[in-house]
Amino acid sequence: MALRTLISEDQIQQRIREIGAQIDADYPDGTLYLICILKGACFFLADLARAVRRDTYIDFMSISSYGKEKTSSGEVKIIKDLDISLEGADVLIVEDIIDTGITLNYLISVLKSRQPKSVRVATLLDKPSRRLKPVDAAYIGFPIPDEFVVGYGLDFAEKYRNLREVCVLEPD
Ligand code: IMP
Ligand code: MG
Repeated sequence: MALRTLISEDQIQQRIREIGAQIDADYPDGTLYLICILKGACFFLADLARAVRRDTYIDFMSISSYGKEKTSSGEVKIIKDLDISLEGADVLIVEDIIDTGITLNYLISVLKSRQPKSVRVATLLDKPSRRLKPVDAAYIGFPIPDEFVVGYGLDFAEKYRNLREVCVLEPD
């Protein structure tokens, strides 16, 4: 398999600074609850949390909709739930990529049922052409074409998460 850089480290960091500033403008006061969807969003969460200036709580959720396959099984399961209550909270779900939308469509409805004040989504990447279920993301880092990408948290069979850039994984 060969890697082709799609989004450079500089482009990612620049865009995260812009999104951080936008979030600060959109949430003028109160604590923002950043909910990181493991494992893919861990680097995005780490950088985005430091790009916002407001108070934040951070928590993690693990959800499975994919095995080691490249395509969605269509099943969504909560593997690890949150430790904190979301009642009355401004919630921002931090995700690596929206592909079919199945994961987030399900997760948004689960989190909305916990009586938060608001629920929004920040995703680093978006593949709009692949959408099967609607997802309204307030913050999108980069729309990308329908290609399988790895790096900056995204994996293929658990590999490549630690790349500093987002790359397309191509057969040799
Ligand atoms: P969805 O439910 O189809 O939107 O899937 C979202 C999840 O699928 C993401 O959180 C990723 O973990 C995974 N995924 C989707 N596309 C890619 C990709 O191109 N590379 C790596 N993981 C992906
Ligand atoms: Mg994921």
